[in-house]
Amino acid sequence: ASWSSRVFNVMKYGAIADGKTDSAKAFLWAWKDACAWWGKGTVWIPKGTYLAGPMRFEGPCNGPTVFVVQGTVKAPTNLAVFDSDTWIRFIYIHRLMIRGGGTFDGQGASAWPYNKCTKYTDCKTLPITLQFDFITDATVRGIHLINSKFFHIQVFQCQKMKFRALKIFAPEDSPNTDGIHIGSSTGIRIYNSIIGTGDDCISLGPGSKDILISNVHCGPGHGISVGSLGRNPNEEDVNGLIVRNCTFSGTGNGVRIKTWAPSPSSMARNFTFEHIFMNNVYNPIVIDQQYCPYKYCNQPASSQVQISDVKFRNIWGNSLSKLAVNLLCSQGQPCQNIELRDIYLPYNGVEEHSASSCIYVNGFSYGKQIPPSCF
Ligand SMILES: *[C@@H]1O[C@H](CO)[C@@H](O)[C@H](O)[C@H]1NC(C)=O
Ligand SMILES: *[C@@H]1O[C@H](CO)[C@@H](O)[C@H](O)[C@H]1NC(C)=O
Repeated sequence: ASWSSRVFNVMKYGAIADGKTDSAKAFLWAWKDACAWWGKGTVWIPKGTYLAGPMRFEGPCNGPTVFVVQGTVKAPTNLAVFDSDTWIRFIYIHRLMIRGGGTFDGQGASAWPYNKCTKYTDCKTLPITLQFDFITDATVRGIHLINSKFFHIQVFQCQKMKFRALKIFAPEDSPNTDGIHIGSSTGIRIYNSIIGTGDDCISLGPGSKDILISNVHCGPGHGISVGSLGRNPNEEDVNGLIVRNCTFSGTGNGVRIKTWAPSPSSMARNFTFEHIFMNNVYNPIVIDQQYCPYKYCNQPASSQVQISDVKFRNIWGNSLSKLAVNLLCSQGQPCQNIELRDIYLPYNGVEEHSASSCIYVNGFSYGKQIPPSCF
């Protein structure tokens, strides 16, 4: 059998680049043929502005599939057309590539006032821009995401995915517009990207394993977070995260691990945060095991999430709060084996004014320590 490559141009399937006609059906028909192609099937979205309603790109396919997105694809503003919590879903695909320099515009501004998830736990979430479910061996490169209604990208039950050269932007005050949220996934890599949103630039939920984040610029936003963990019973552990050569600029937090209190038991371990520049960050280094963003929570018991083997190395810059290093662990499961090495985080540029706090933490420190380490 001969292996061949074929391009499926969405214009040939009836897409209309006028920014108002819904082209979702054309994209889906192009996908159907690309996915069925015995070889490399490429869906091509040429330059131009398209409106497209909710779409589900489902595999398995007969060969590797590619999306070349050169145009701008806009989400509908009418929430009534979304029958799930996702705008664009990729599911059950092995060997997927998305590239092309184009833009996914979630048009979130009109939806953000309807977001109740910042106030209540049992809220209905707004649509996520790109959802990846059960994807293996994939690369997403050089695309832009703006103004998602909820998370920009969510990765669930995926293995071996690379995100490269992404640009993700939403206003600083937009609710839950996380850049990339990862859960129940292994071998995820995020490189050379710029993320500035109203929530975490990148967040890791339960079941995240072997995650690498390198050369990411984060800000504005809440920083890079593990958690919140321990919200539900029987959560999978989080094991293996490296955050390296990243810059945080004007963010609320820098690197953070947060768990709910009280919480069921699980483990969060084996994290390295290294070579990180904090440019005017309020809380550069945070572990918070008493996380509860809602007003009505009370905390009768401690978190049972065991945090261990966490290294903070070569982290420098400027803290906008006095408490540059704030490690608040659990009384029931104190943090184990926390390493602080070469930390330089003066408060507003003044070394003597910068402080650290460690509660229920067992750790070690090495090298320079501004603020003075608790260990
Ligand atoms: C720690 O995480 C790395 C990946 O970041 C992984 O390769 C390694 O096996 C993990 N170590 C342990 C002891 O689980
Ligand atoms: C990360 O930064 C360190 C120290 O600044 C540098 O030696 C290393 O080459 C960088 N690595 C990457 C992948 O950029």
